[in-house]
Amino acid sequence: MEDKRDILSAFDIHRVFTTPETLLPVLKGVTLEVKRGEIISVTGPSGVGKSTLLHILGGLDQPTRGEVRIAGCSLSGQSEKSLAQFRNKRVGFVFQFHYLLGDFSALENVMIPMLVAGRRKDDALVQGELLLEQVGLRDRRGHLPRQLSGGEQQRVAVARALANQPEIVLADEPSGNLDTETGRKLHDLLFRLNSANGTTFLIATHNKELAECCQRQLKMVDGKVLE
Ligand SMILES: Nc1ncnc2c1ncn2[C@@H]1O[C@H](COP(=O)(O)OP(=O)(O)OP(=O)(O)O)[C@@H](O)[C@H]1O
Ligand SMILES: [Mg+2]
Repeated sequence: MEDKRDILSAFDIHRVFTTPETLLPVLKGVTLEVKRGEIISVTGPSGVGKSTLLHILGGLDQPTRGEVRIAGCSLSGQSEKSLAQFRNKRVGFVFQFHYLLGDFSALENVMIPMLVAGRRKDDALVQGELLLEQVGLRDRRGHLPRQLSGGEQQRVAVARALANQPEIVLADEPSGNLDTETGRKLHDLLFRLNSANGTTFLIATHNKELAECCQRQLKMVDGKVLE
């Protein structure tokens, strides 16, 4: 039953990959609800389907069966164009590797999703600076990605994910590529953004410490999600 506070709901999600040799069922009936303002971890062994699930929840991949709704809006049956617009405005992604655009400064990387969404440049600039301030990188706004440390690149990626004030941020191993201390600082940042802005996070991780600090902890076992 859908609740008003549900920001994301997934019902009976299945995903079968077709390979030349066989059919590979990865998700075997995932049902979950995320409420506004929650910060949730998803753990489970390598290959269990965490990234597959996050891609489907964010509309980057389609389930073989089942339905995902974000803020009451179904992702099924949308054209690729409207899905792309939906993702840009309403879902933030943070991956293990930052995927920042190498020829653009930190500030420009954060501004781009806003410009794509049709925001005015001066408005995007102000918001971009504010976001970089929040992730502690205001004084690095003119740096290109290669002129930033790994932890700083991930913080820019977090700021970019927040650019259009998405309903939910899906983070896939956000600190998987960072050393322990830098990873910890990134986790602190996510928790700070969650409590200060009420940003909703769903984080797939192998990091036990991060998973245990989350308000809710989901575990993936054999293609299903357990609370
Ligand atoms: N496009 C694809 N085609 C075929 N098989 C795929 C595809 N994408 C993923 N898989 C398979 O689906 C399974 C789940 O992959 P997924 O990347 O979701 O795992 P994961 O839980 O994120 O693992 P890790 O913790 O290592 O990141 C794996 O066995 C993988 O080989
Ligand atoms: Mg993965």
